[in-house]
Amino acid sequence: VRKVRTHHLREMKERGEPITMLTAYDMFTAATFDEAGIDMLLVGDSASNNVLGNETSLPVTVDELLPLTRAVARSARRAMVVGDLPFGSYQASPEQGYLTAVRFMKEGGAHCVKLEGGVEMAPVISKCVQGGIPVVAHIGFTPQSEHTLGGYRVQGRGDAADRVVADAHAVQEAGAFAVVMEMVPADVARWISTELTIPTIGIGAGNGCDGQVLVWQDAFGLRTGKMARFVKQYADVHQVLLDGARAYRDDVKARTFPGEEHSF
Ligand code: KIV
Ligand code: NA
Repeated sequence: VRKVRTHHLREMKERGEPITMLTAYDMFTAATFDEAGIDMLLVGDSASNNVLGNETSLPVTVDELLPLTRAVARSARRAMVVGDLPFGSYQASPEQGYLTAVRFMKEGGAHCVKLEGGVEMAPVISKCVQGGIPVVAHIGFTPQSEHTLGGYRVQGRGDAADRVVADAHAVQEAGAFAVVMEMVPADVARWISTELTIPTIGIGAGNGCDGQVLVWQDAFGLRTGKMARFVKQYADVHQVLLDGARAYRDDVKARTFPGEEHSF
């Protein structure tokens, strides 16, 4: 596959080949993850609390995300680049959502957009799809609605499963080509994944989804401290950078850098 397209993802689901997604927010991480064969790069609104220093995803703006999206789009050769619509940029109306999505495609160079919400966002999803923009939906726990949902908590336990199932069907009917499911019980997510024809991509949604996504700073240990249960740490980038920065500091303080070979 030269470039990952929506039909490739559908075919992967059909053959039972898991889809891989990671977040990326800049040139070198995008190029590296692309080189590793990651299928989809999400320029998440999680840039807010992983790049821009905010505590949550709520404050990040379209104007802040567009340059990051452009950087990732310019750096990915094979991976599909997903622009993530930030809080307040699509919930007002389908028209607002479409116009914001257009900016991510035209100015950001994204190949598709992602937006949060199920049944209630179906009109926004169909407006985008009718306007030629592929959409990834995002259901279950949706971080932009943290204050409505009462904090970070699993969605769809017990009787609440019906709600998540209804959301999943609604976004598929509205024309989404894939759906992220966040913090949904594994059995519910597995059921939804068999029910839907579009691929499901899980985060904290167990092993029955058609794909998985993680925030790279979590997965590769740039972020330190207590991590959500659904995170697996594959590398310790914090330690690598800390060691490097300390060695550089020590060298400069000791005047052992720069050496002859670095000088003119
Ligand atoms: O912004 C983000 O990183 C996300 C993923 C967690 C799915 O939406
Ligand atoms: Na997001």
